[in-house]
Amino acid sequence: MAFLIILDLNIAQKFGGEMELLDRLESRVDHATVGTIITFLFVLRLALRYFYGAPNLPSTMPKWQIYAAHTGHYGLYTLMGLLMITGFISASFASDTIIIFNNFNLAFADHNENLFMLVRGVHEFCTNAIIFLIIVHIVAALYHHFIARDRTTIKMLKFWTAKAN
Ligand code: HEM
Repeated sequence: MAFLIILDLNIAQKFGGEMELLDRLESRVDHATVGTIITFLFVLRLALRYFYGAPNLPSTMPKWQIYAAHTGHYGLYTLMGLLMITGFISASFASDTIIIFNNFNLAFADHNENLFMLVRGVHEFCTNAIIFLIIVHIVAALYHHFIARDRTTIKMLKFWTAKAN
């Protein structure tokens, strides 16, 4: 998911500036297609988390770090969800078709430039906020691995749950 989000951000970073119309329309398709795959993976992740749980935090962890870890994780999940919802809503009001997987047109609603721009603004805000949280997340992972030297980062890298470890 991290790799796909970076890829999708890379496609999207040019949307804010001037673009040739054809390039913009094609890039919207690429961006929305990768965004839809990320959305499927996000739903799968929520399901896995629901059934398998999350790794336990180290028992030695100070209270403020536990609080910060929970806030950071809820923030990441909320922003990911909001990114996807605002992405699909802005796509639905877009000026031209956005056909993903060669089949499904995401721009199915009547074109509404005001709504498109409004929701796109929220989408952009969520992007900046999630970039900030991802940086904090990476710094925290490095801290746990190299300074606190606990197993938090190792557990995070396991595919299924690491609850038992
Ligand atoms: C990982 C999730 C996503 C990230 C990080 C992301 C990021 C971005 C960014 C940075 C922009 C440019 C905003 C601007 O400069 O105004 C953008 C635009 C857009 N995104 Fe996303 N997005 C994501 C998911 C999605 C999804 C799932 C969809 C729809 C299926 C979507 C549809 C759009 C559309 C339609 C635009 C406007 C394109 C334009 O201005 O021409 N995004 N996105």
